[in-house]
Amino acid sequence: MDICAVVMAAGEGKRMHSKHSKVVQRAAGKPLVCWVADALREAGAQEQVYIVGFRQEEVRAALGEDVAFVLQEQQLGTGHAVMQAAPFLEGRNGCTIVLPGDAPMISAQTLQAAMAMFEQDMFGAVVITAQAPNPKGYGRLVRDSEGHVVRIVEDCDATEEEKLIREINSSIYCFRTPLLLSALGRIDAKNAQKEYYLTDTIEILINDGHKVGAYVADFNETRGVNDRVELQEVGKLLNERVCRKHMLQGVQIIDTHTTWIDTMVQIGCDTIIRPGTVLKGSTIIGEDCIIGSQTRLEDVVVGDATTILCSVASQCVIGKNCQIGPYSHIRPEAVLGDNITIGAFVEIKNSTLGDYTRARHLTYIGDSQVGKNVNFGCGTITCNYDGLDKTACIIGDNVFVGGNSNLISPVTLHDNSYVAAGSTITEDVPELSLAIARNRQIVKENWVVSKNRMRASKLIPPDRRREGV
Ligand code: UD1
Ligand code: CA
Repeated sequence: MDICAVVMAAGEGKRMHSKHSKVVQRAAGKPLVCWVADALREAGAQEQVYIVGFRQEEVRAALGEDVAFVLQEQQLGTGHAVMQAAPFLEGRNGCTIVLPGDAPMISAQTLQAAMAMFEQDMFGAVVITAQAPNPKGYGRLVRDSEGHVVRIVEDCDATEEEKLIREINSSIYCFRTPLLLSALGRIDAKNAQKEYYLTDTIEILINDGHKVGAYVADFNETRGVNDRVELQEVGKLLNERVCRKHMLQGVQIIDTHTTWIDTMVQIGCDTIIRPGTVLKGSTIIGEDCIIGSQTRLEDVVVGDATTILCSVASQCVIGKNCQIGPYSHIRPEAVLGDNITIGAFVEIKNSTLGDYTRARHLTYIGDSQVGKNVNFGCGTITCNYDGLDKTACIIGDNVFVGGNSNLISPVTLHDNSYVAAGSTITEDVPELSLAIARNRQIVKENWVVSKNRMRASKLIPPDRRREGV
């Protein structure tokens, strides 16, 4: 069977109160309309045409080059929207799936089940419906006493009796393509909203003597996104779906309610995701890792058996068997080798670190090349910016940097060298040498007594007026 799809994505989505097209809003890291595109592809609908209008450039950018676009200049209703795809549909004979771009929960399995029903019983169309807990706002499916589909009535056009129907139109359909075109040619805008309703095609097909079926799906799959509350609800459901997939593949997620994983993220088996973790973008995590709690990773590659606690990292690579955190910040273009330890309040940016290197506390490493087995003492700072240019610190293998040192770039610490604690290094340190760059200490004996500065004589009580006390 020839399968193609028409996706309605031209509307403004007024209820979102956004400058952006509703269908490019993201749920679980993916634009709503791309969830639709992927489900269609998985269901076998390779040829897809998108009806675009409001902020069409955003919708085109989100979907890329693999699909077709048709501009609907004025949004005159869902029927009018699909009519714009007529040139694309003419001459086709199989099935056209029509669906809205704001229904990201629909699965390929449900689309396939509806298509199987459509094919088996020679239906002119199959509507995907669901029993809604609260059907208000949706079009209702009207059936006759024998349960056959009669028509779809919009909420605002429905009688009091019809409003009691809980079976709703998901706005997802399979149509026999020539019949869809024929019916679209005959709809009008004589209704409460003065719009061309796609839903009217159902009654037209039935009056023409064609059978129309209804495939009843799980309500959650049919959920649309009209406002930000629904976006949050759908985002939560999709996140649950993503978490579930990982758990069934061997990832232990301690608390799916506080773990947010974008759909593209990959995680190896036996990795544990602790509460409060956010994994974004194209993050790839190896096996046997422990991530979290309270950790955010965006576009990060993490090797096997690495632990990251209470930390933030983005667009960087972290090797195998590393210990990161708590409270580390690994920034873009950082490339960390294996067996590395990065501790509290350490920030690394645009730097490479060799295997077994350690920066356990309060260190900034920026624009640097660091070798293997280097030890950064507490409070080491690479001073990589002179106010005009960023320059590099080159640090060889097995270097020891004593605590509270400033390495003023550009500077090189050669292999196997030492920097004494408290140094401000401005010149290269040769191999196997020790650099000390600080003033010698002066001791003034008996100064406290001579200046009458004994602190033991004054005990100052805590300041009770401090904020938060
Ligand atoms: C539609 C259905 C309703 C169904 C509901 C499910 C009609 C008349 N009603 O109502 O039966 O229960 O979806 O969510 O079809 N769009 C365009 N161009 C237009 C108008 C709309 O592209 O001229 C797009 C919108 O961007 C949106 C989709 O079509 O993605 C649905 O439009 P919307 O106005 O949200 O329809 P509903 O009132 O929700
Ligand atoms: Ca809608």
